[in-house]
Order: sequence, then C-alpha cells, then structure tokens
Amino acid sequence: MRAILIHEFGGLGQLKLAELPQPRPAEGEVLVRVKAAGVNPVDWKILNGRLKERIPHQFPLVLGWDMAGVVEEVGYSAQRFQVGDQVFAYCRRPVVQHGSYAEWMTLPESYLAHKPNNLSFEEAAAVPLAALTAYQSIFVAANLQANETLMVLGASGGVGSFAVQLAKAQGAKVIALASEKNHEYLKTLEADITIDYTQGDFRESLRAVAPDGVDVVFDCVGAETLLKGYDCVKMGGRLVSILDPEGNAECIAAGKISYRYVFVQPHVPQLAHIRQWIEADKVKVHLNAVYPLAEAAKALEQISRFHTRGKIVLQM
Ligand SMILES: NC(=O)c1ccc[n+]([C@@H]2O[C@H](COP(=O)([O-])OP(=O)(O)OC[C@H]3O[C@@H](n4cnc5c(N)ncnc54)[C@H](OP(=O)(O)O)[C@@H]3O)[C@@H](O)[C@H]2O)c1
Repeated sequence: MRAILIHEFGGLGQLKLAELPQPRPAEGEVLVRVKAAGVNPVDWKILNGRLKERIPHQFPLVLGWDMAGVVEEVGYSAQRFQVGDQVFAYCRRPVVQHGSYAEWMTLPESYLAHKPNNLSFEEAAAVPLAALTAYQSIFVAANLQANETLMVLGASGGVGSFAVQLAKAQGAKVIALASEKNHEYLKTLEADITIDYTQGDFRESLRAVAPDGVDVVFDCVGAETLLKGYDCVKMGGRLVSILDPEGNAECIAAGKISYRYVFVQPHVPQLAHIRQWIEADKVKVHLNAVYPLAEAAKALEQISRFHTRGKIVLQM
C-alpha cells in the first residue's frame, strides 16, 4: 500500500511516498480501506518534531490522525462492524506510528464510529479530531449552557468552525474572532457577532458588544491572542485553551476565572453525538482543499501557514 511517512523529524523534505505491506487486523481490530485522511496542524507539529518530548513515537512514522473509510476485514473477536461498513475515526494511538496518510489502516474497533450518512468520505475525514476538540473544550471542559455567550478565538479554522456550530446547536450565543475575509463564512455558520482581529485591539470591539465580557472564551490561537482573551472573560467565567497547557496564573487570579487546557482524546460516544448533529444538518463541514495523497507536502505546507478556512483533506 502507499503511505506518506518520515524516517526522522524535519521539514517537508522528510516526507516520503512509500510502498508498505498491507497490515492485517489483530484480535479486536478491523482493517479499513482509507478513502480520505484529514489534515491537521498537529500533523505539521509531528513532522517537525515539536511534540517529540510529549508524544511517544516510532519510526518509520506514517502521519495522520483523522480518517474515513470502509471496513474490509474484521479481526478475531471484533464484533461492532461488518465488512462494507463506512466508518470514520480520530485514530491517534498511544504510540504514534501507523497514521491515516495511508491506503489501509488497522485499528481497535473501539476507535471507530459509523460515518455520517450525509457526508462524503472527504467531508467525514475532516470531522473527528477538530470536532472532538471543540466538543471536549466547550461542552466538557467549559460546560457551556444554552443561555450563555461563547467567544471563539480563531473561529474560522478547523476547530473554530466546529466550535461555532456546536455552540449554536446547543442554543448559545457566539462571538467569532477572525479576519474580515472570513466573516461572511462565519455568518453561514450562524455566528451571532463577528470581530476582526486585524483592526485595532479586539478587546475593545468585544467590550462594545459585551461590556462585562463573555461567559466562556475558547482559545484556538494561543500566544498574544490568548493573553488578550483573558480580558474577554467575565468575572468568574471560564477560559479553555487548546494551545497553552499552563495558563497564566496572574490573569486567572485577576479575573477570578477558571482555566482549562484540553488535549483532545479519542471518544466514540462523543463522535456518535457529533454525527447526529451532522445528520440533522445542524453541523456542516467546510472543505477548503482536497489533495491527492501524493501531494501531502502541499497540504502540510498550507496547514503550516495557519490561515486555512475550514478543513484540508487528503484523498487516497
Ligand atoms: N490541544 C488540542 O487537543 C488541539 C486540537 C486541535 C488543534 N489544536 C491546535 O489548535 C490550533 C488551531 O487548530 P485548527 O485545526 O483550528 O487550525 P487551523 O484550521 O489551521 O486554523 C486556522 C485559522 O486560524 C485563524 N487565525 C490565525 N491567526 C489568528 C488570530 N491571530 N486571531 C484569530 N484567528 C486567527 C485563521 O483565520 P484568519 O485567516 O482569519 O486569520 C484560520 O481560519 C492549532 O495550533 C492546533 O495545533 C490543539
């Protein structure tokens, strides 16, 4: 089978389109013919070694943590799926090695959910990691309620787009931070208010619409943007970041806010819940670009610039 792998950390030059033996499903696993693989900023971070101290890994390493495909073989004792089932998964394993930038994958069946029946394989592959991150951040970590206001920093990206839609599906009010070129897009996701971070200090724009701040800020950007984000939370509110594990103790104390960092975990019941919203047309997938597997370098180059609207996917 063809796969995109690396033998060491580095830049795009490390990527190899290689021929590997087709894997066989072990006990409790299924073999999936991968139809499409989602591309995430973390793939770029894995490639350049930024996460090497935090995440166990093994070379040669096939990149990719998101996948949609078809079950082709069921291993001994695996019971949840049948040959021919269409599935999708956030497939990060405890040791990063056998990723989804490949034509075939074996996975414990506990990682897989049925693919939403109104999505193509390409759209489905764009969902798991980003949508689960949004779900675990705003519903689990922040416990966002229907009568509350959520501000999303980095609202037009892969995670932000799902956060906006999930919060709206829950009945919350959403303020979305993105550059002006993405505001029309964010209106199609039903964001209530859009703020342009390239025009002045976005904290002032926020104060104009929410003088006391918002109940929950969800940070998908980090650094300076996150630092300003502390001032956007109302006294006693919640801030969730997917970028900064530590948080800023001074800002947390000053605003009497609660701070949580989320590192997304595979979670099939949550993914099944997300599938229900997708099938009910409450959550949509915006594909920004679809590249063939052999052009993974182009996809990773694009994701590394951090200005993608929606999602990028590789097609097998
Ligand atoms: N901890 C976790 O579990 C976890 C999970 C998923 C992702 N992440 C991390 O979270 C970040 C976001 O992920 P993603 O998949 O959403 O990335 P992405 O799709 O590449 O996000 C790109 C978006 O960010 C926006 N953006 C860039 N700079 C901004 C700024 N200063 N203010 C507001 N928006 C800005 C861009 O909008 P404009 O073009 O308008 O600037 C673009 O739409 C990445 O660093 C990723 O590695 C962490």
